[in-house]
Amino acid sequence: KTINVILSGGVGSRLWPLSRKTRPKQYLPIFEGQTLFQKTVHRNREFCSSLMVVGNCDNYELSRLDLINEGLEYYKEIIEACPRNTAAAIAFAAFASNPEDILFVTPSDHLIQSDEHYKSAVLRAIQLAKEGHLVTFGLQPTKPETGFGYLESKGEEVLSFREKPDLDTARHFLEKGTFYWNSGMFCFQAGVYLEELRISEPELFRTSKLAFENSENGKLNLDLSLQIPSISVDYAVMEKSTKIRMVPSAFNWSDMGSFESIYDYFDHQGYPKDEDGNMVIGTDIHTEFTGMKNALLIQTPDAILVLQKEKAQDVKKVYERLEKEK
Ligand code: GDD
Ligand code: MG
Repeated sequence: KTINVILSGGVGSRLWPLSRKTRPKQYLPIFEGQTLFQKTVHRNREFCSSLMVVGNCDNYELSRLDLINEGLEYYKEIIEACPRNTAAAIAFAAFASNPEDILFVTPSDHLIQSDEHYKSAVLRAIQLAKEGHLVTFGLQPTKPETGFGYLESKGEEVLSFREKPDLDTARHFLEKGTFYWNSGMFCFQAGVYLEELRISEPELFRTSKLAFENSENGKLNLDLSLQIPSISVDYAVMEKSTKIRMVPSAFNWSDMGSFESIYDYFDHQGYPKDEDGNMVIGTDIHTEFTGMKNALLIQTPDAILVLQKEKAQDVKKVYERLEKEK
């Protein structure tokens, strides 16, 4: 059995005010009228016989709505009592599966072109997972991005995995030419993942198992969940495991992590901008920019954000300040 495990726990703080706690970015219907969550479900249906969504108490109803729109009524839902990061989120999915089930773990907030490149990469990953490997997908890096994980590889063999290096290290990786970006999707047998997790993070394994076993009506126990160390799968398992493999991949991929990628996406779709590259999203009000280049104005019913495209990462700071002031 191959199960598409969709992780849908993030808030998308770098896309405020479009993305909110009550409607994180994966549920915004702004991509040809569809949400990224819907697109993810759609893209992976042909490879998987069932679907599992790991989300939280604030967003599982939004997942339900999207799945009804996709005509999907049968899927397994795991509702976290509080976010404990991806190592635990994936562990819950694995505990809910048979050890030999293949889990194809995908984020809910990426934009990927579903073409022959994608298809062949996923099929190869499923093959390697059947052989007992923890499979990652490697993408050709185009800039020293510090928000990604890097895989050093020789073909499918992985020499090392480094999550979110600093800028100098990322530059060095790019120069060497043997490093790939980790796509954030994974494929493995449930039992293999749990065994690797048990070896590298025994406390995380133990506490997440306990929280899972004490679920009520599909929702995990809050007190026990709070004891789970909050570590991402990249640090907890991928940096340490010797069973990791990489499928070199050529599909078109964007993690839609910031307004820079949103800008590029809309630009690519032929969305209007002025001669200095300034763009407006979310309003028909006549807007002019003077003395600005590549700026973006985003309006929602209750907020306006104006930013320089190159400073797109700083939006996270705005979000964090607003959260503190609440
Ligand atoms: N259910 C659940 N619970 N999902 C979660 C949680 C959680 O506590 N935390 C994060 N997620 C979901 C997010 O919604 C997203 O879909 C996915 O898991 C990945 O989490 P991110 O927080 O977006 O990770 P990242 O972008 O910093 O890094 C990962 O992705 C990069 C590519 O986009 C890593 O795997 C990097 O190595 C990789 O390069
Ligand atoms: Mg991400």
